[in-house]
Amino acid sequence: MLHHARDERIPVAILGATGSVGQRFIQLLADHPWFRVAELVASDRSAGKSYQAAAPWRLSSDLPEAAAALPVLDYDADLQSPIVFSALPSEVAGEIEQRMARQGRALFTNTSTHRMDPDVPLLLAEVNPSHAKVIESQRRNRGWNGFIAANSNCSAMHLVLALKPLQDAFGLEAVAVTTLQAVSGAGYPGVASLDIVDNVIPFISTEEEKMTEETLKMLGRLDSDAFTPAPIVMTAHCNRVPVRDGHTECASVRLGSTPAIEEVAAVLAAFKGRPQELGLPSAPDRPIVVRPEENRPQPILDRDTERGMASVVGRLRPCPLLGYKFVVLGHNTIRGAAGASILNAELFKAEGLLPV
Ligand SMILES: NC(=O)c1ccc[n+]([C@@H]2O[C@H](COP(=O)([O-])OP(=O)(O)OC[C@H]3O[C@@H](n4cnc5c(N)ncnc54)[C@H](OP(=O)(O)O)[C@@H]3O)[C@@H](O)[C@H]2O)c1
Repeated sequence: MLHHARDERIPVAILGATGSVGQRFIQLLADHPWFRVAELVASDRSAGKSYQAAAPWRLSSDLPEAAAALPVLDYDADLQSPIVFSALPSEVAGEIEQRMARQGRALFTNTSTHRMDPDVPLLLAEVNPSHAKVIESQRRNRGWNGFIAANSNCSAMHLVLALKPLQDAFGLEAVAVTTLQAVSGAGYPGVASLDIVDNVIPFISTEEEKMTEETLKMLGRLDSDAFTPAPIVMTAHCNRVPVRDGHTECASVRLGSTPAIEEVAAVLAAFKGRPQELGLPSAPDRPIVVRPEENRPQPILDRDTERGMASVVGRLRPCPLLGYKFVVLGHNTIRGAAGASILNAELFKAEGLLPV
């Protein structure tokens, strides 16, 4: 076989590359068949150092050698990559992300800043791939050659994966969810250890609002170029718990019909979306894994299911209040953040929507 010395993969940049989500991007992109990590960007604290020196590596796999040696750039650097992944704090993301899109780049973001903009798709590749087409009106409205495509809050993501097949098969009228969210969801160093060890914190700023509005946007309709949120009554309680990775969510739902529990389980387990049809590199074979054991899912046992890209559902049973209840668990920095963004970028490439 001929060996091609030139790497023909598309160069990508990561903004916020030194943080919890940034490190996941580097890990997940290390041997990616289509994308090559070319540029790493972080704050003034890190810029000018090598990545290895700037960012103590906190994941269990080794820091990929190619990334270790890259210099960390600052936000004013003149980037070359046509695809940019953002893991910036929301306070600083707005102007930087818009600049990337204005410069003609495809910007895939984990930050909340643009998620609810009426012309930004809030994409979960299996759930609402057709929402991607709103980027055409985004470009028209804003005069951009590039675009911004967002993925949701990590808790909303796993809940929505589990709700979508129920909405399609049975109709979905009401959702009540209580989350038990991992500490890594607050970034690094996140919540002080003395605040979280031996404790539960029943408040995560703006999380309940995000859970609700983002869920309804993702499950809603896009008609020509306007989103209509799904007409679902929804309430959320969000809690921080002393778990390292993996958000657990206890949900009750009222469906539009009254299927048997076995039927609900079968619909969840059979769910596939566009990424599976297209065979995208980061797509899990099973986006939803249904566990029959009475004490699953659990973070330490189930968060790495399908390389951290699945939502794991268990304890499916009748609910006297809303009809059905279950537990859903998923990895917050893999499917809940970096993995979801990468899957969105793969979807755009496969559908011919990238400006490269
Ligand atoms: N963690 C999760 O599970 C999760 C899930 C979904 C979405 N998100 C979202 O993803 C984003 C990143 O989260 P994270 O958990 O990775 O946060 P993090 O660990 O705190 O990392 C923040 C990153 O942003 C950089 N940064 C911090 N302050 C900055 C400033 N003033 N100007 C420019 N860059 C700055 C940091 O660089 P330095 O190292 O140089 O300071 C670091 O690279 C947030 O918007 C978060 O809401 C997180």
